[in-house]
Amino acid sequence: MLAIIGGSGLSQLSNLDITRRLAVRTPYGEPSGALTFGQIAGKDVVFLARHGYGHSIPPHEVNYRANIWALEQQAVEGVVSVASVGGIRADMRPGVIVVPHQILDYTWGRKNTYFEGGEQPVTHIDFTEPYSASLRTRILDAARACGEPAVEDGVYASTQGPRLETAAEIDRLERDGADFVGMTGMPEAALAREANLDYATIAVVANFAAGRGDSLRGIRLEDIEQVLQQSLARVRRVIERLAADA
Ligand code: HPA
Repeated sequence: MLAIIGGSGLSQLSNLDITRRLAVRTPYGEPSGALTFGQIAGKDVVFLARHGYGHSIPPHEVNYRANIWALEQQAVEGVVSVASVGGIRADMRPGVIVVPHQILDYTWGRKNTYFEGGEQPVTHIDFTEPYSASLRTRILDAARACGEPAVEDGVYASTQGPRLETAAEIDRLERDGADFVGMTGMPEAALAREANLDYATIAVVANFAAGRGDSLRGIRLEDIEQVLQQSLARVRRVIERLAADA
């Protein structure tokens, strides 16, 4: 069974035939909401809205540990996360769908590991390739098969939020090698690795990042909503195809 974590604009999957909801308690506190089980294209999936079903949990307050733990308990074969991002690289225009292959982590103060407390031995995970290669390939194949072109790689810079960045910060991220910027990529990806889950992200460019493209003088938040609505309809198609091929 595939797990899907929905981001901004994707607090429900309209193509999900819901069978049941499950409130999961975890040693790390409450997940963002109940898990929603159902079927897409006749295949079982479980869905969780990262920001809560009423979109009320900001990126820095998401309980990433509880979310990943709750999904891991359902014996899922992989986690596909959907995230909206701001485009830095010139081809990362609003509406583009991209499947990142690398991460830069600028977040701070988030609970970012399961390996702490008590008498636990010091544990490190290999994170050279932060995303699952096989799940990325499956997403890209699904995107191709349903005619929704997706950029095959990119470096995701995860910032703390909830504010958007300054233009100078975006310049720095670009110098660091970032192609786009979002607020939820970490620690979600690292926790999935700690939990031994295959994890990959479908990122949707909602806007040009600060100081780029038509965001040269500012980011028009009203525009983001519209771009997301259109683009997430395309992401739903990719997910449907991905589920069908599972
Ligand atoms: N910056 C950070 N996160 C984002 C952006 C952005 O410009 N757009 C959507 N999520």
